Amino acid sequence: MGKLSFWSFLSEQIRDLPLPKESANGRTIVVAGANIGLGLEASIHFGSKKPDLLIATCRDAAKCEQTLEVIRERCAETQPTSIDSWPLELSSFDSVRSFADRFDVEGPEHLDVLVANAGTFTLVYTQTQDDWEIMLQVNYLSLALLSILLLPHLLRSTTCDDPSRLVLVSSLGHYQCDPMLKDAHIWDDVLGTINTERFGAPAQSRYNLSKLFQVAFARELAARLPSPTPLVVTAVNPGLCHSSIMRNAKNSLFGIFFAVVKWLFARTTEMGSRNIVYAALATNEQAMHGKYMSGCEVVEECDYLLSAEGKVFSQKLWRDTIHVLSKVDDRVSQIISMYLPAK
Ligand SMILES: NC(=O)c1ccc[n+]([C@@H]2O[C@H](COP(=O)([O-])OP(=O)(O)OC[C@H]3O[C@@H](n4cnc5c(N)ncnc54)[C@H](OP(=O)(O)O)[C@@H]3O)[C@@H](O)[C@H]2O)c1
Repeated sequence: MGKLSFWSFLSEQIRDLPLPKESANGRTIVVAGANIGLGLEASIHFGSKKPDLLIATCRDAAKCEQTLEVIRERCAETQPTSIDSWPLELSSFDSVRSFADRFDVEGPEHLDVLVANAGTFTLVYTQTQDDWEIMLQVNYLSLALLSILLLPHLLRSTTCDDPSRLVLVSSLGHYQCDPMLKDAHIWDDVLGTINTERFGAPAQSRYNLSKLFQVAFARELAARLPSPTPLVVTAVNPGLCHSSIMRNAKNSLFGIFFAVVKWLFARTTEMGSRNIVYAALATNEQAMHGKYMSGCEVVEECDYLLSAEGKVFSQKLWRDTIHVLSKVDDRVSQIISMYLPAK
C-alpha cells in the first residue's frame, strides 16, 4: 500500500540519484518556475544536454533576463541561442493564456517536454485576482490549464516509440491528505469546497492537497490518452530539498520547525532536480506513465488515491477541473474533445 514511513523517507533522502545519460538533442523543453530552486537546477541539466530549445519561465521580465544569464553561464558549452526565458505568472489565468498564445505563435510546432514545476507555499489564506486560493491556483489549476493548452503541441509529431513528456512536480506531502478528504468523493463541488476559507484547512494541508491533485491529474490524464501513449505523464516527488519554497513562512512556528527538519534531512536542489530530469528524459518511460515517482523510481501514491473512494474522487476532480478551466478558456473543452475523447 502507498504509505510513507520515516525509514523509507530517510533512506531516499541520503541516496545519490542517477542522472539520465540521454541527451536532450532535438527536443523542445519548457520548465515552469525556473529562476531558482529545483526549476533552475533542472533547467541547467536540460541546458547542458543540448536541447533544440529550452524555455525557462519566470514570473516577470526582470527575472527572465537574470535567469537566462545564469543558465547560459552555467551551460557554457551549449549554443546560447537554444535557451530562452518567457514570463509566466501562475496566479493569473490570463498570464497562462498569454503564454500559450505566445507558444502558438512563436514556439516550435512540437513540444517534447513540459515540466510543471512552479509552486508556492503561503501561510495566510490568500485569494488571487481570479478568486482562487493561491496555492490551489498556482500549484494546481494554472499548471493544469497550462498542460491542457499545450497538449496539442505535446501531441504533435510525437510517437509511442518516442513519446513526449509531461512532468508534474508533486510532493511526498500528498501522503498526508487522507483525513481532509473524508467523503470528498461525494462532495458536489470539490474545487469550490476546498477553495473557501471556511474549509478551514491549515496552510500545510492546503499545500499538500494541491500536490495530491497533481498526482490525481497525472493519473486521470494518462487514463484518457491512447495506449501505447504518445505522451507520458508523471507526477514526481523531488524529495525534501534546500530551496526557498517556505520563504513566506520563515518567521512562523511552522517555518522554524520546517527549517530544522530541512537542516537535518534535506538534499540539495541539484540532487532533487535529478528526479525531474529523469522523468523527462530516461528511456523506461512507459513504466512511468500515469504514475507517481520518487527517488527516480515508480512508487505507490498515497493510500487514499489507491482506495475505491480515492479513485472515484480523482475522476470527480478531473471533471470539476475541466469544468472550471473550460470557463477560463474556450480552447480547453475543444482540446479535451479533440485529443482526449471519452473511452
Ligand atoms: N523543496 C522541497 O523540499 C520540495 C519538496 C517537494 C516538492 N517541491 C515542489 O518543487 C517545486 C519547486 O519548488 P522549489 O522547492 O524549488 O521552491 P522555490 O525555490 O521556491 O521555487 C519555486 C518556483 O516556483 C515559482 N513560483 C512561485 N509562485 C509562482 C507564481 N505565482 N507564478 C509563477 N511561478 C511561481 C518561483 O518563482 P519566484 O521565485 O518568482 O517566486 C520559483 O521559480 C514546487 O512545486 C514545490 O512544491 C519542493
